[in-house]
Amino acid sequence: MPNTPDNSSQATWGGRFSAPPSELMAIYTDSQHYDRAMYAQDIRASIAHARMLARQGIISDAEATAIVEGLEKIRQEIESGAFVWQPSLEDVHMNIEARLTALVGDAGKKLHTGRSRNDQTGLTFRLYVSDHCKAWLDLCLHLCGVICAAASDNRDVILPGCTHLQPAQPVSLAQHLLAYAGMFKRDAERIVDMLARVRISPLGAAALAGSTYPLDPESVAAEVGFHGIYSNSMDAVSDRDFALEALFVASVIMMHLSRLCEEIIIWANPAFGFVRLPDSFSTGSSIMPQKKNPDVAELMRGKTGRTYGNLVALLTVMKSLPLAYDRDMQEDKEGFFDTDRTVASSLEIMAAMLPALQFDAESMARACHKGFINATELADYLAARGVPFRDAHHITGKIVAVAEQKGCGIGELALDEMQKISPLIENDVYDVLDYAACVRRRETPGGTGPASVQAQLKDFQNWLATFK
Ligand code: ARG
Repeated sequence: MPNTPDNSSQATWGGRFSAPPSELMAIYTDSQHYDRAMYAQDIRASIAHARMLARQGIISDAEATAIVEGLEKIRQEIESGAFVWQPSLEDVHMNIEARLTALVGDAGKKLHTGRSRNDQTGLTFRLYVSDHCKAWLDLCLHLCGVICAAASDNRDVILPGCTHLQPAQPVSLAQHLLAYAGMFKRDAERIVDMLARVRISPLGAAALAGSTYPLDPESVAAEVGFHGIYSNSMDAVSDRDFALEALFVASVIMMHLSRLCEEIIIWANPAFGFVRLPDSFSTGSSIMPQKKNPDVAELMRGKTGRTYGNLVALLTVMKSLPLAYDRDMQEDKEGFFDTDRTVASSLEIMAAMLPALQFDAESMARACHKGFINATELADYLAARGVPFRDAHHITGKIVAVAEQKGCGIGELALDEMQKISPLIENDVYDVLDYAACVRRRETPGGTGPASVQAQLKDFQNWLATFK
């Protein structure tokens, strides 16, 4: 039997209707043009359901075999492009079921026994979210590894760490980069945590109230690789928390990426000159011949907006929805698809671009001489000589003012100039004011000192190894 369009009145639920659907309504409610993306998950779920129906004696083994073979054939038809999608059949689920019945006859009509599209669409979408969030996890882990490698290569590079985007204290570039590795590690942990709630099967809840058939929902969940089943059938078919959590996790990932992008954009400005963009990830200007623009980083920063939008959109769809399934919930998918494309491609391109960035260690070292970023050292030096820290802070402020007036750094002031303000300062102060020493001496846990950075790198390696 060929798979040809059949636009006669609704075969799936049309029994009690005497007029065909308005064309306007059919177009408005149609979701197959986008939810067909979930064909593989729908087929996986249906195969598990059919096998369970046979195990429970609800359909025969021969019928289950016919269903499974039919569904496998449909999978091939979809993948080869031979499958004809019919808008009149509303969604991916009814398109596949109609084709199944065309292929295997009455057995196909039995597939939906003990099942509703409400629990079916719930399981299908959960499988889809699970598959794609697993891909995000792998991409986060890969990016963490890439950042750790860059950090490891740049342990001796020093730059001004900022607060308020003003020079604050010197840090190693490794320390700066590892801050981002920590963000993507938390993102990975959030995905793992969230997947425990995504991987719950609602199948068996049927329309909303459960089923009179002797179903075995646990075995369906196990067969699709999920951790367990719902505890309440009405909650099962109307829960979209799993999609919201995924959209939140993705929003946080994009927020983290946007922060890294912002730094790359700032650092690439020649006024900073901390990084040179690789030609392969930059664009030029149609009018200004000298330009090299960080478009990838800018676009990624911009795309963060749409991921927030998709989260807020679904939160708003779900707001005030009465139990149980409501058609509003069909609006759950396109936002997720969009966020999925955005977050996966952004993680991938960041991991490809980062190793190609050329950090300019000399430029960073030069920048350390601006902004008195060793002032805290001087205050600590005085405090170590018994000056209460608040007073030490004040004295140091006066010395900074002198240096500022002279247009030099604190460490370039003559000893007697400093001693005029505090006689406690001696010749050994110059070692303390050295920028590299500022970094070397900060060995508190998680600090920028080399041993601390080495320990951080080791922790990341150990953590990444747990996923191997
Ligand atoms: N396409 C629908 C969705 O994605 C499937 C569920 C439809 N259920 C119903 N009772 N109309 O939500």
